[in-house]
Amino acid sequence: MNETPQRAIWGSKIGFLLAAIGSAVGLGNIWRFSYMAFEHGGGAFLVPYGCALLLAGIPLMILEYTLGHREKGSSPLAFTRVSPQWEWAGWWMPTVALFGIMLYYAVIISWCINYFFFSFNLAWGADPQDFFFNTFLQLSASPFELGGIRIPILSATFFVWFICWIICYREVNHGIEKACTVFMPILFLLTLILVGWTITLDGATDAIRDYYLKADWDKINIFSHFNDPDVWSVWIAAFGQIFFTLSLGFGIMITFASYLPKKTDIVGNALWTSIINCAYSFIAGFAVFGIVGFMAKAKGVAFNEVIKGGPQLAFVVYPEAIRQLPFGQSLFGAMFFLVLIFAGLSSGISLIEAFTCSITDKFSWSRKAVVSGLCLLGFLGSIIFTTRSGMLLLDITDHFITNYGLLMGGIFECYIVGWLLKAHVARSHVNRSGGLSLHVIWDICIRYFTPLVLLVIMLQAFLGELRQAYGGYSADALILFGVDWLLLTVVVSVLFTFYPWKREKLKKRHHVAEDQLLT
Ligand code: ALA
Repeated sequence: MNETPQRAIWGSKIGFLLAAIGSAVGLGNIWRFSYMAFEHGGGAFLVPYGCALLLAGIPLMILEYTLGHREKGSSPLAFTRVSPQWEWAGWWMPTVALFGIMLYYAVIISWCINYFFFSFNLAWGADPQDFFFNTFLQLSASPFELGGIRIPILSATFFVWFICWIICYREVNHGIEKACTVFMPILFLLTLILVGWTITLDGATDAIRDYYLKADWDKINIFSHFNDPDVWSVWIAAFGQIFFTLSLGFGIMITFASYLPKKTDIVGNALWTSIINCAYSFIAGFAVFGIVGFMAKAKGVAFNEVIKGGPQLAFVVYPEAIRQLPFGQSLFGAMFFLVLIFAGLSSGISLIEAFTCSITDKFSWSRKAVVSGLCLLGFLGSIIFTTRSGMLLLDITDHFITNYGLLMGGIFECYIVGWLLKAHVARSHVNRSGGLSLHVIWDICIRYFTPLVLLVIMLQAFLGELRQAYGGYSADALILFGVDWLLLTVVVSVLFTFYPWKREKLKKRHHVAEDQLLT
């Protein structure tokens, strides 16, 4: 009897790409990218963002696809096959994805669901800021004052986990692939309509030109402002954002590539995923900067006075702008929040998949049981973010997980593939698999350049942390909800390594036969 069943395989090339792009395009592209761009000087942010894409994003996307495809496994299995001592790091990535990110990610999608319904009667009224903080979140003054659960947020969070459960329950080609084939075209279409609508509004194009496309070089010039923490913070945010937005360092792309057939275009797929994702963020930025420009003009105030960072951009500034629209307010609002919901769900399911596949790879348990258990556990874990201090908690968790957890994952991957597996071995695998060939420059990138850049960025982020406590939170809160949370994910990952692998798991790679090539 064959104990290790044949691995699932994507139904089509486009199905795989849509699932990978679905994972990449998420709340990060609209909610996170726009407020990062706002906070870090608009157009000035695009330069470090572009550099981060070229120096870390694309090389690591190729690396993750190569590793998953070559080793035919989720990150723990792939890392173990290269070097058993690094199994824990393979567990760390999906653990961070599910228990570091998805727990709060589901809650932000639930805010979007609530706001989708609020759009129909513009429930936020004349003061969206007061509505968001006092009526909707009923936000506590400190992260420690949990102050009870917000039922509307909890119910929508339950719904999010339920939908994810329904999609992930089935094998990837029947669940995630089918869902993304429906979600992604709707998402792209709605986004284009929103952008088209926004740029026709009075004041929108001026704001896009002056605040989004114009770069303030002084804000990003690390050579002339080497000791200025503000300049470094723009670069740190850009690298963190690239990891978050491309779903790198989560183990997702490794897992997704493990379901590809033997002959596939690794480089082409990596380029398509990265470029479409970043182009989406860039295009969505037009809608965000445009609507804020329109609102500023309608209210007769300066652009800089109406912008707001953090979650307030989507949940305070946008509702306020929608209120100012001359017509179609409810339609515009519903479309905006629907875009966020679709983008969030298509990424959420991939965050769950990375962990699900890791468990099924190691323990050979039934996928249905694993997904059911994880979604239930995930929902229970999300509850803390549905409390009155939920927004503060997720802000702290997001900061530490993204700036340290994901970047650290990237450094480990570079070491494992670049040095332990050897970059040239990985590269010849890519070149044997078909499609675009990989240049030797990639070897240099992942062995030296990318890990070095990530290390410098992380070191600077850490020094910044010592200089000034993040977000003005107390040290206790940062340690408990940020540092300890991160350390807990490491402990959980190490615990998984105590259970031994079945021998045949480490030997067989279950390559799919050439005659199963996708067309
Ligand atoms: N890549 C996903 C996003 O950007 C996680 O939201």
